[in-house]
Amino acid sequence: MTAGVLFVCLGNICRSPTAHAVFQEMVNANGLGEHIRVDSAGTGDWHIGRAPDARATAAAAQRGYDLAPLRARQIEAADFEHFDFIMVMDRNNLRDLQPLRPAHFRGELGLFLNHAKRFPEREVPDPYYGDGDAFEHVLDLVEDAAVGLLEAVVLHCGLQAVRR
Ligand code: 4NP
Repeated sequence: MTAGVLFVCLGNICRSPTAHAVFQEMVNANGLGEHIRVDSAGTGDWHIGRAPDARATAAAAQRGYDLAPLRARQIEAADFEHFDFIMVMDRNNLRDLQPLRPAHFRGELGLFLNHAKRFPEREVPDPYYGDGDAFEHVLDLVEDAAVGLLEAVVLHCGLQAVRR
């Protein structure tokens, strides 16, 4: 069984592309690329087609993640048909997605940081108007939650032991 994981934020140029690249890296490192599809989208339409924010790209590159090939897109109703885990960065994202959620959706729509283990925060703060530290904090939170999310997805798919 395969699973689709979609990360969602407001602009799809800072937080969700960061989560996309970090989670994809973890999926690849565990040899699960054939089983888990990863994507990201924004609730807003301002940055459609644009590359991720240069500050997010630079901070991620320092930790070995490549955001450069990603391009922003806006979430659409059909995403609820194609993804099993729709992971939002904050409660505003969740509020914006509720009207798009079809009654038959059986996946998990929720806060990505519900899967965090080390950090108590449940929202990834928007770093867009922040400084460099804001982007480091996004990475810290995302790396933490990605570990827990991968465990949940592996369980969902009935996949075997994760390779490290
Ligand atoms: P993101 O950050 O939601 O993490 O991609 C933002 C990017 C752009 C804007 C807001 C947040 N904006 O207002 O343009």
